Amino acid sequence: MSPRSFLFSILLSLTTAAVAQNQSIFIYSPAPTAGLHIAERSQDNWHDLGQLCSSDYGTWGAEKKMHHASICRAKDGTWRLVFQVNDRSPVLAAAYSRDLITWRPQDYPIVSTHHAKEPVVFENPDGSFDIYYRSSEGKRFLSATSDFRHFSADEPSQISDDAWLRDTATIDGKLMEGSIFEVSSDIVAALHRHFAALKEDARLSSERMHDDDKNLSWLKGPVKATLTIDQNQQKNISDKLVGIFFEDISYAADGGLYAELVQNRDFEYNSRDRKEWKASTAWHSNAPIRIAADSPLSKNNPHHAIVTSDSLWNEGWDGIAVEEGKQYDFSMFVRGKKKFTIQLINPSGMVIAQAKVKTKGDNWTLYQAQLKPVVPESKARLLLLPQGKEEAAIDMVSLFPQETFMGRKNGLRKDLAETIARLKPKFVRFPGGCMSHGQGLDNIYHWNETVGPLWDRKPDMNIWHYHQTRGLGFYEYFLFCEDIGAEPLPVLAAGVPCQNSANNAQGLGGQQGGIPMADMSAYIEELCNLIEWANGDPATNKWAKMRADAGHPAPFNLKYLGIGNEDIISTVFEERYEMICRAIRARYPYIYICGTVGPFHTPSADYIEGWDFTRNHADLQYMTDEHYYESTGWFMHHRNYYDGYPRTLANGQPSPKVYLGEWAASTKTKRPNVETALAEALYMTDLERNADVVVMSSYAPMLAKDGHHNWNPDMIYFSNTEVRTTPAYEVQRLFSCYSGDRYLFSEFSELSDNSEASKTSKLSHRIGASVVRDSKTGATFLKLVNALPVELQLDVRGLSLSNAQGEGFSGKPEQQSLKCEPVNLNGSQITLPPYSFRVVKL
Ligand code: AHR
Repeated sequence: MSPRSFLFSILLSLTTAAVAQNQSIFIYSPAPTAGLHIAERSQDNWHDLGQLCSSDYGTWGAEKKMHHASICRAKDGTWRLVFQVNDRSPVLAAAYSRDLITWRPQDYPIVSTHHAKEPVVFENPDGSFDIYYRSSEGKRFLSATSDFRHFSADEPSQISDDAWLRDTATIDGKLMEGSIFEVSSDIVAALHRHFAALKEDARLSSERMHDDDKNLSWLKGPVKATLTIDQNQQKNISDKLVGIFFEDISYAADGGLYAELVQNRDFEYNSRDRKEWKASTAWHSNAPIRIAADSPLSKNNPHHAIVTSDSLWNEGWDGIAVEEGKQYDFSMFVRGKKKFTIQLINPSGMVIAQAKVKTKGDNWTLYQAQLKPVVPESKARLLLLPQGKEEAAIDMVSLFPQETFMGRKNGLRKDLAETIARLKPKFVRFPGGCMSHGQGLDNIYHWNETVGPLWDRKPDMNIWHYHQTRGLGFYEYFLFCEDIGAEPLPVLAAGVPCQNSANNAQGLGGQQGGIPMADMSAYIEELCNLIEWANGDPATNKWAKMRADAGHPAPFNLKYLGIGNEDIISTVFEERYEMICRAIRARYPYIYICGTVGPFHTPSADYIEGWDFTRNHADLQYMTDEHYYESTGWFMHHRNYYDGYPRTLANGQPSPKVYLGEWAASTKTKRPNVETALAEALYMTDLERNADVVVMSSYAPMLAKDGHHNWNPDMIYFSNTEVRTTPAYEVQRLFSCYSGDRYLFSEFSELSDNSEASKTSKLSHRIGASVVRDSKTGATFLKLVNALPVELQLDVRGLSLSNAQGEGFSGKPEQQSLKCEPVNLNGSQITLPPYSFRVVKL
């Protein structure tokens, strides 16, 4: 052996020894809201490395706590975690990980006691696990199968207290309890890389256009580049990439898109909707308002008001906005004989419209009148002046503008619906979001309770802390889709409510164990009934007949159905989701099912498990729904997010597609501005490039009423009299209106400016281009984004810009409103102003 190779072999053995070396780690939970952490020992001190996972149980704020985390390392090298979630729920939390980095979404085995304290976990020789906990009833145990996802019922146990002995370590001067393990230094090295990658990602994600003055002051514009479009390199892409997501959030439905002007028309508000609400909320009188529930108009609408001669007025939704000379349809159900004067009055009491209604009979009867204001008023009230001493019961008191979107009865607010229609969305996802899977099992959205006569629909609380009348129900959603030429994409619960649900009467929070298995077949039938209702033959199917009776004998042609909304991908979820999909696939194989992969992007536990499950069960669904709300920097630095998504599975079958169902960029101001819009536009050029796998996308949320925001940013803000679109709206509109079904590959090169070329070339994340063609019309559309603080001078090759026309915008990053300007091009050069977006038809 030569001296050199001898030296090399020594070095190699030293390195190998180093790799094989063991290292001490300490796993612990520093505080209930801090989740599970890991520390490493070096030079006799413990150093925290970071968070491994956190509790996903129950509501934000009150819950999401991890107490007394206990972890064991199984013989197969995996890690098994159990913890206590609070001091009142009859559950424990359990999860496992192969590498301490990625954790399976948590399961919450139900136990027999409400204060299941201090669980500890041990592996049995057969690879199953025993979990012990303490309670006021003494020590108890349950066992977990080796998959750590199925658990036995708990039983009393005689185990010694030694089972609860724990290791300690001093971290940052504080003595912590936890577990010490000796692990190979490879594991620790992987964790170091993981935390370093997260840190780097956070650094990149903090990049803001708003800070460009400081951070890009070296950039001496203009930047020059070449864009080469290769017409020979094309692929098919989805022609449904841009749609909308309508959720009843921030008063989007009642008080928003649904044109009803009376608030609490059915006297069904209650403290479940909001603590201080009751049946008379939004109604006023100079005497106490009497509410009764005897002989109701419908069992679903039990409450009504009893009137004699005292006036009763409704405040509307922050007032009632009416226009001069327009017709408004007043209606109410009355039981009793009485004369009413119905008025619209302004805040000083002046009558601006009036009508008379005379009622008769002991049965609930619908009475109608028209009101025509003589002056415009944005804060009118609806006043009912009953005459005489006899009592009458009133319910479903309604005031509707005759002018609704497309003139539909029980229709949509015209200006808002027209603004949405201008987006030309290819599909509409509805009715939510979290609203769809609901706040607990008894708030899951049941579509069948939202169709049929208005007074028979079942109102319910809205997870966003208000009330749903369901006046805007599935019939109205489907009609709206038809009116605007969009595919309906209803999304309904996967047999589980929102994982952020509060504890119910049994103390169960989060998914609350899901719809009991015994009730799942009825729930699946309910979902199948929707397909019958939408597509069935009224002559042979009672659900289809309901649709026809409502005025739509022709089928709605439902093709897409979403099952689940960003659920935690727990065992409870997976089992129910699979049952639902199998039943629908068997009966309606033509329906495109859309699943879910949780609320965050990679590397979240739900995303990873969700995609594993989706790809391993590719036969169940056509696509799956991803959600993420991120900073502008995140979007600018994850432009290749979908480039590596598999198009084909290992077995040669096509991979399930992506529906990016909820996404938006935000900055600290939490309002859409030019900066967020440009980050979104950049990302959308990447979505178009990947639209063979990302087949649908929708910005979220879409609507928010002034003074009632549950969420920011939103695409469209409105009051009773105004609709304000945002830069985010313009980006969605431009991508939707200039869309295609063929993607033409293009590439930037020679990025340079007059300053430091090496730095300039690193700014490619700030510019974007995408070329698509509509094969039906032959039109080709070029989209260009310049998110730089300086001009971008482009030399475009491969397609001529002669007589190209289109539109676009530019502005300061913090600018929150804008108007698109026309764009006219000629030749092969185009100059994009700083912070600008252009779309042209070539
Ligand atoms: O879009 C607002 C909310 O965000 C949706 O209800 C939910 O799905 C997500 O968390």
